[in-house]
Amino acid sequence: MSDEVPKAEFSDSVLIKSIIRREDGGSGLAGKKARIGGWVKTGRKADKDAFAFLELNDGSCAGNLQVIIDASLADLGQLVQTGTCVVVEGHLKLPPSGAKQKIELRAEEVLHVGPVDPAKYPLPKTRLTLESLRDFVHLRSRTNTISAVARIRNALAYATHTFFNKHGFLYVHTPIVTTSDCEGAGEMFQVTTLFSEAERLEKELIQNPPPTEADVEAAKLVVQEKGEVVSQLKSAKADKKEISAAVAELKKAKENVSKLEERSKLQPGIPRKDGKVDYTKDFFARQAFLTVSGQLQVESYACALSRVYTFGPTFRAENSHTSRHLAEFWVVEPEIAFADLEDDMKCAEAYVKFLCRWLLDNCLEDMEFMADKFDKGCIDRLKMVASTPFIRLTYTEAVEILEESVQNGKKFEKEVEWGIDLASGHERYLTEVKYQKPVIVYNYPKDIKAFYMRLNDDLETVAAMDVLVPKVGELIGGSQREERYDVIQQRLEEMDLPVEPYEWYIDLRRYGTVKHAGFGLGFERMILFATGLENIRDVIPFPRYPGRADL
Ligand code: 4AD
Ligand code: MG
Repeated sequence: MSDEVPKAEFSDSVLIKSIIRREDGGSGLAGKKARIGGWVKTGRKADKDAFAFLELNDGSCAGNLQVIIDASLADLGQLVQTGTCVVVEGHLKLPPSGAKQKIELRAEEVLHVGPVDPAKYPLPKTRLTLESLRDFVHLRSRTNTISAVARIRNALAYATHTFFNKHGFLYVHTPIVTTSDCEGAGEMFQVTTLFSEAERLEKELIQNPPPTEADVEAAKLVVQEKGEVVSQLKSAKADKKEISAAVAELKKAKENVSKLEERSKLQPGIPRKDGKVDYTKDFFARQAFLTVSGQLQVESYACALSRVYTFGPTFRAENSHTSRHLAEFWVVEPEIAFADLEDDMKCAEAYVKFLCRWLLDNCLEDMEFMADKFDKGCIDRLKMVASTPFIRLTYTEAVEILEESVQNGKKFEKEVEWGIDLASGHERYLTEVKYQKPVIVYNYPKDIKAFYMRLNDDLETVAAMDVLVPKVGELIGGSQREERYDVIQQRLEEMDLPVEPYEWYIDLRRYGTVKHAGFGLGFERMILFATGLENIRDVIPFPRYPGRADL
C-alpha cells in the first residue's frame, strides 16, 4: 500500500471529501501523506503563535479538514484570515482524543498562499444574510449555504438526466433564440442588434459625416467628364491602351458615385418602414426573442422520436418581484408521444418522487445542513413526497374546496370563483393546509390557459395540469397538447394570436399528427422546495430579476 493518499484526477491535490467522507471519517488514513488545497473557513493561532489551526474547505463536501501549521512554515497572520487560499502538504494524523474530527493534517510544507486583506474582503467570518450576499454573487459560492445549494442543484440536474435516460427519453437542445412565443403571454425579451447598430452608425456619422447633395453632384460631374473623354478617344480611334485606361477611370468615378449615394442615404436611428420598425434590417431579418419555453420546438422532436426532453434556460420579462419568480430560470420539459394527460401526470409524479429520493440517497449531508440552518422539516418533506401518492383534483373540485374554506372563514387575497387563475395563496392552501402533500390540479378553464392545450369534450376546459407542492406552490405546469388540426387553428384564432409564426407548429398536426403530452418543471422552484430556502434568488448562481443582472 502506498503511503500517500491518491490525488484527485486532473489535479495535484487530494479532495477533502475523499478523506473525511470515508466511512471511517478518514481515521484509516492516519500516517499517510497528502497534499490539500482549499480556502480557509476559520483560522486561529495557538500556543503563543507557535502554530495555527486552519479549517480548510475545498467545496467537494460540506465538511472542513483541520490543518495544523507551524510558525516556521509561513506567515501565520496571513494564513488564518478567512478566505485565504492555501495548498499544503503534510501527514494525516489522528487528533487528540475527544476532538470532533476523525483526522487532521499536520503541514510540513506550504506550497501556495492566495492571501486576503481582511479589511477589504467582503465576506467576514460572521454570517451575512442571504440578501446581502446577493451583492457578491462572484464570491458567495465560498459560503456554506451557497456551496451546499450548488451541490444540491448539481445533484438534481444529474438525477434529472438519470431519470429520463432510464425511461428512454432523448435529451434535445432547443433554441434559446426563437421567433415564436410559446406561452402567448407576450412576456418575451427581444433579441436585436438594431440598437447597437444605430449607436455605432451615429458615432460613425459624427466622425465621418455623410456626403452632401453637392458632393454627389460633383462626383456625377466627374463621371460625365470621364465619359466624354472615353467617347472622344473612341471616335479619334485612339490607341487601345489609352482607351482602356480612360474606361477604367470612368468605372472608378461611377463606383465613387454609388458609394457616395449609398452613404448619403445613411440615417441615424432605428430603421423604419411604413411607420414601424423595419426588422428586415435586424440581425435575423425578422423579430426574434429569448425563449420562454422549449416546449414548442421539443414537440417537433417528440413527434418523431417519441419521448424527448429539453433542459435549459428560459427567460420571461414579467415584472415580478416575488420570491418565486426570476427573469432567467431553468426548466426541465419532457414531451411524450402516444401519451395523454393521465400519462403526463404519472410521469410528473414519478419524476418528482425520483428527485426527492435521489437527494435523500446522495445529498444527505447538505440536506442536513439545510435542515439545521433553514428549514427543520426539509428532510421529512422529501421523505413524505418520495413515498406519498399525490392528490389529484379537477380544477372545478379545487375551486369547490377553496369556496368551502372561505365559507369556514378562510380569507384569500384574490376572490375565489370558477374561471379565475388560481393565485399562489389558493395553491398553497390546497397543498400546505388542506392536504399537506403534493396536489395535482387538472382540467383548467380554457380561457386562462395557453393555446396549445387540448380542448376537453366539455368545450369549457383544457387537459392541463399543475403540480402544487408545499413551500412553493406551482412546481410543474403541463398538458396534453391539442393534436387536432382544425381545433388548434380555431384556438389560435380565438386567442387572437397570429397564425404565421405558428405555421410550422400547425404542420405537426397537418402531417402525421399524434396524441402527445408534456410538462415543465421549474428547476429553481424544485431547489426551493428541496432546500426550504425562502428566496428563489439564492438557488440560482447568478440571479436575474427586474433591475438586476450582475456579472
Ligand atoms: O407553467 P409554465 O409557464 O409552463 C410552460 O412554460 C410550459 N411550456 C411547460 C410545458 O408544458 N413544457 O412554466 C413551467 C414551470 C412552472 O410550473 C414554474 O415552476 C416555473 O416553470 N416558472 C418559473 N420559475 C421561476 N421564475 C419564473 N418567472 C417562472 N415562471 C414559471
Ligand atoms: Mg404555469
